[in-house]
Amino acid sequence: MTILDGKKTSNDIKNEIAEEVKKMKAKGEKVPHLAAVIVGNDGASLTYVGSKVRACERVGFESTLVKMSNTTSEIELLDKIEELNQNPEIDGFIVQLPLPKQIDEQKVLMAVDPKKDVDGFHPQNFGKMALDMSTFIPATPFGILELLDRYGVETDGKHTVIIGRSHIVGRPMSILMGRKGFPGNSTVTLTHSHTKNISQITTQADIIISALGVPNFLKAEMVKDDVVIIDVGITRVPDESSPKGYVITGDVDFENVSKKASFITPVPGGVGPMTIAMLLKNTLLARELSR
Ligand code: GUN
Repeated sequence: MTILDGKKTSNDIKNEIAEEVKKMKAKGEKVPHLAAVIVGNDGASLTYVGSKVRACERVGFESTLVKMSNTTSEIELLDKIEELNQNPEIDGFIVQLPLPKQIDEQKVLMAVDPKKDVDGFHPQNFGKMALDMSTFIPATPFGILELLDRYGVETDGKHTVIIGRSHIVGRPMSILMGRKGFPGNSTVTLTHSHTKNISQITTQADIIISALGVPNFLKAEMVKDDVVIIDVGITRVPDESSPKGYVITGDVDFENVSKKASFITPVPGGVGPMTIAMLLKNTLLARELSR
């Protein structure tokens, strides 16, 4: 069994990006600048956005964190997005999801300039991805592809089962794993809350990508020997013995499933750090495209 080490791999990628930034600086070029907008004070979202900004500093990017209150109106957020669209200093930006309920998420995604949409959530970029055109690939799916690639995990002709059809992970992953090329060329089954008898499907999977958000959902008896497991779950489970009062728990019963797996991502230290590294990669791409 091989651990797909997202922490190490993301560090390798960040070092590669830092080298690129050094070269840009040496040539007197502008370095990439990422902005992140966070609306409200959800603890997990604040942590993720903080990590994204810190990662920018680590590789030598400029970064801007825009914090807006929980009561921000849709118009106020759309105005901020327009300001970032127009600001020539900003190469790419993200609006952290989820958003408070008074704001229509679709309107927000549509408002981001596709050239600065380093999350790859704008319909234009999502459509390009589905048509195999070069574009920003959403950071979490992009990170999973990169892990599979760097560890040489075979995907060609394999049966990939995806659990969860979110717009951020499950849906794009189902498109990417079925694309021509590597990683890709998989036969994909996309399962979700209306799927019947999920164990019957997961036991036939060569690769399982779980993005459900239910701690320890995937048990050893639900997988076959030598399965490849990608665990995207990051649920905070209350735990008084932990200093933070919670532990980050994945969708997969790691202790038992790992005994049957050929490759598996840990939680934490698997997909999570890869998401951040690939957001940086998309920001570097945005800077290169705007040159
Ligand atoms: N919320 C959870 N994951 C993501 C992500 O990749 N991008 C944004 N903007 N929000 C998220």
